[in-house]
Amino acid sequence: MSPLARFVLPALAATGTAYAACSISGTTTIENNGDATAMASCTTFTGGIAIETGVQEPISISGVRELDGDLSVKNNSNLESISADSLETIKGKFELNDVRALNTLSFPKLSTVEEIQWVALPKLQNLEFTAEVKKAATVVISNTQLQSLKGINIETIDKIDINNNPYISDISMQLGNITTSLNLEANNPEVNITFPNLEWAFNMTFRNCSSIDLPSLETLNGSMGLYGNVLSGFAAPNLTKIGGALALVSNTEMTNLSLPELTEVSQNLQIANNTKLHKIDGLPKLKTIGGALDFNGNFTEVSLPALNDVDGAFNLQSTGDVQGQCDDFFKPLSDKKRIKGKFTCFGSVAKPGGQGTTPTVTGANSKKTGAASTLNVQKNAAMGLMGLAAAFFM
Ligand SMILES: *[C@@H]1O[C@H](CO)[C@@H](O)[C@H](O)[C@H]1NC(C)=O
Ligand SMILES: *[C@@H]1O[C@H](CO)[C@@H](O)[C@H](O)[C@H]1NC(C)=O
Ligand SMILES: *[C@@H]1O[C@H](CO)[C@@H](O)[C@H](O)[C@H]1NC(C)=O
Ligand SMILES: *[C@@H]1O[C@H](CO)[C@@H](O)[C@H](O)[C@H]1NC(C)=O
Ligand SMILES: *[C@@H]1O[C@H](CO)[C@@H](O)[C@H](O)[C@H]1NC(C)=O
Ligand SMILES: *[C@@H]1O[C@H](CO)[C@@H](O)[C@H](O)[C@H]1NC(C)=O
Ligand SMILES: *[C@@H]1O[C@H](CO)[C@@H](O)[C@H](O)[C@H]1NC(C)=O
Ligand SMILES: *[C@@H]1O[C@H](CO)[C@@H](O)[C@H](O)[C@H]1NC(C)=O
Ligand SMILES: *[C@@H]1O[C@H](CO)[C@@H](O)[C@H](O)[C@H]1NC(C)=O
Ligand SMILES: *[C@@H]1O[C@H](CO)[C@@H](O)[C@H](O)[C@H]1NC(C)=O
Repeated sequence: MSPLARFVLPALAATGTAYAACSISGTTTIENNGDATAMASCTTFTGGIAIETGVQEPISISGVRELDGDLSVKNNSNLESISADSLETIKGKFELNDVRALNTLSFPKLSTVEEIQWVALPKLQNLEFTAEVKKAATVVISNTQLQSLKGINIETIDKIDINNNPYISDISMQLGNITTSLNLEANNPEVNITFPNLEWAFNMTFRNCSSIDLPSLETLNGSMGLYGNVLSGFAAPNLTKIGGALALVSNTEMTNLSLPELTEVSQNLQIANNTKLHKIDGLPKLKTIGGALDFNGNFTEVSLPALNDVDGAFNLQSTGDVQGQCDDFFKPLSDKKRIKGKFTCFGSVAKPGGQGTTPTVTGANSKKTGAASTLNVQKNAAMGLMGLAAAFFM
């Protein structure tokens, strides 16, 4: 850029009213709305725009269509609204951090932002984003009063993190892929999640969601975790491969798990503390687990008919009577070294635990031994787990 072009004076300057440079090196600080309206003639503003800590009156950045820099407001306790009637693109960060009175953001034309970082906006309720933001590499939205993310409808994203928005009722986007990570946590516990077009994602973590709909998901390049959700079931009808681990933990209302096309989990597969999940019958094609299998819960049935290769340990502990499945299906896989790591498989366990815990088997569960006593494995340390399995179940 030539030195002259760096300071283009708007026509208004000639009349003696406000003017602004449309290109600066660094950041311009808006101290009142006059500073914002002074930018009106800049179709493109090059440089950062920051709104000062003490600003109270609504700020309206009009005229500017493209911002080649960041737009940021930090640590402001009085500002209630920010608008930009013409702004289509923010090439840098759109950062709002600790703006305690902010209620409304009105950006009707905004469609492209490099990064959205909206954190600690406890009064933010209204997003007026008519054109919808369709492109962003990163979206972080944390601690707001938003009820909806209408207006944020990204197609491809690197990183998305939506947490601690207690009023949000649904999160739904056209996302086709997530190249780094998705994290949804501690929002409205009733929040419904829908990503109808999502075909692949790297890592995904869902906590405290009420339903998760991923009808198109085919590949997880990395790992997926579902923790503490209140959903009644989880299905990923098109998911074939998980490049990392899969964990389903403490989803206390989940009764149904359906991953009908899943053939491979490259690292650990953990299913734990999903209190009401009684049947694991939704993994008909799962053949390979590159890490450990670690299941504990109240299962009456654990069916993995295609399982042929577990590289790590195998731990299955259930309050329900799955001993038949342990003895008839899983034990032979261990004997044939299809399960390579330490093998633990018990039904009728009082308090089923994760890998490395010692199960306490109760009651007359073993169809082969008919033993009617309570057996505390810990008191039989000398026997060891393998010895125990041998003594009772072979
Ligand atoms: C926030 O702004 C107030 C003035 O409004 C100032 O006193 C305080 O130091 C600022 N805090 C931080 C963390 O910047
Ligand atoms: C989520 O979907 C369920 C079922 O359709 C509905 O009952 C619930 O109200 C939805 N949650 C919210 C916060 O709207
Ligand atoms: C990612 O998703 C977008 C939107 O659906 C799609 O246009 C693009 O081709 C996808 N990229 C890859 C590498 O799958
Ligand atoms: C995905 O998650 C795993 C395990 O937490 C981590 O090691 C890895 O770096 C993550 N990958 C990306 C791209 O975020
Ligand atoms: C599921 O995968 C099949 C085969 O790749 C594809 O034809 C179908 O459209 C996918 N379904 C959804 C809902 O994406
Ligand atoms: C993830 O897997 C999909 C499908 O195999 C592939 O198209 C995509 O390039 C992979 N993404 C990354 C970041 O490895
Ligand atoms: C959210 O999930 C976590 C587990 O990941 C759990 O500890 C927490 O209690 C849940 N919070 C709510 C509000 O349900
Ligand atoms: C379990 O999920 C599958 C797939 O989503 C569905 O077809 C089936 O009806 C569900 N079963 C129960 C008992 O909810
Ligand atoms: C399952 O619950 C038990 C008992 O509350 C706890 O000790 C254990 O850490 C939980 N397991 C996981 C994987 O969270
Ligand atoms: C089994 O169910 C009981 C009662 O519903 C519950 O307290 C316990 O946490 C469940 N155990 C596991 C491992 O999910």
